[in-house]
Amino acid sequence: MKNTVLTFKDAKKNGEKLTMLTAYDYTTAKIVDECGINSILVGDSLGMVMLGYEDTLSVTMDDMIHHTKAVARGAKNALVIGDMPFMSYNTGIRDAVINAGRFMSEGRANCVKLEGGREVCDVIKAIVDAKIPVCGHLGLTPQSLNALGGFKVQGKDEESAKKIIEDALAIQEAGAFAIVLECVPDKLAKRITELLDIPTIGIGAGLDCDGQVLVYQDMLGLYSDFTPKFVKRFANAGDEMRKGIKSYIDAVKDCSFPEEQHTFKIDDEIIKKLY
Ligand code: KIV
Repeated sequence: MKNTVLTFKDAKKNGEKLTMLTAYDYTTAKIVDECGINSILVGDSLGMVMLGYEDTLSVTMDDMIHHTKAVARGAKNALVIGDMPFMSYNTGIRDAVINAGRFMSEGRANCVKLEGGREVCDVIKAIVDAKIPVCGHLGLTPQSLNALGGFKVQGKDEESAKKIIEDALAIQEAGAFAIVLECVPDKLAKRITELLDIPTIGIGAGLDCDGQVLVYQDMLGLYSDFTPKFVKRFANAGDEMRKGIKSYIDAVKDCSFPEEQHTFKIDDEIIKKLY
C-alpha cells in the first residue's frame, strides 16, 4: 500500500516506528521500496554522495528534479520526499512555492523537505497552503554549514536546546507533517518527540524519535569519504562491489568472460559469405 502523510500521522498515533532512507536513482529506489520502507528521501546529500561535492551547497533545483524523477519511477509504495536545495526557498515565498511545485509536477514527489526553524515558517505555511505537504528539518541543518561553523551536534546547551524546541513547535504550527531531527542529543530529541503531535525522524538523534533516516551509502558501506558517528553499517556493499569488479577485470583479462551462454550465434553459412 502506498505510504502517505496519513501513514505518518497514524504511525505517530499508534506508536509505530517510521523508516526512511535516501535514494537518488531508479534502481536503488526500486530495491529500497521493495524492502518495504515507509519513505524515500531524495536528499540534497546527493551533492556529496552522488556528485562528489564536499557539502550540499552546490546542489541545484535541476539536479534535484532530475534525481527525484528517477526515484519516483522506482518507488511504488514509499512516500517520496524531495529535498529543497540551498537557496530554493530562501529568496521569497513565491520562489519557494514555485520550486516546491516543481518537485511535485516535474519530479513526481509526494512532498518536500526544507531546513530551518521559525525563519522558514511563513514559507512552510505557503507551501502547505498550495497543498504540498512539508517535512521540516532541525538541529544540524547542513545547508547552514557556514553559519553553524561546521558539521556539529546542535542543542547541547540550554539556550540552543530551547531554540530547537521552539522551532519544532513553530514548524508544527505552520503545518509540517513531520520533522527530521539531525545530530541533536538523544534526550532533547525525546523531549521534542513527546511535545509534538507530528512524527520526528531522527538521524543522530537517538532511539526515541518516531522514526529513523540514514543515507543509504553510509549504512551500506558505499561511501567512505566521511562516516558520521551516528551511522551504523548494516552491510558492506562497497567491499562486495570491489570484489565483483575485480573478478570482472580478471575474467576479461584471462578470457574466461564472456562464456558460451553470453554470446549470440549466426549461421556459419552466412559468415562464409561475408568478405
Ligand atoms: O539530504 C539528506 O540526505 C538529508 C538527511 C541526512 C536527513 O537531509
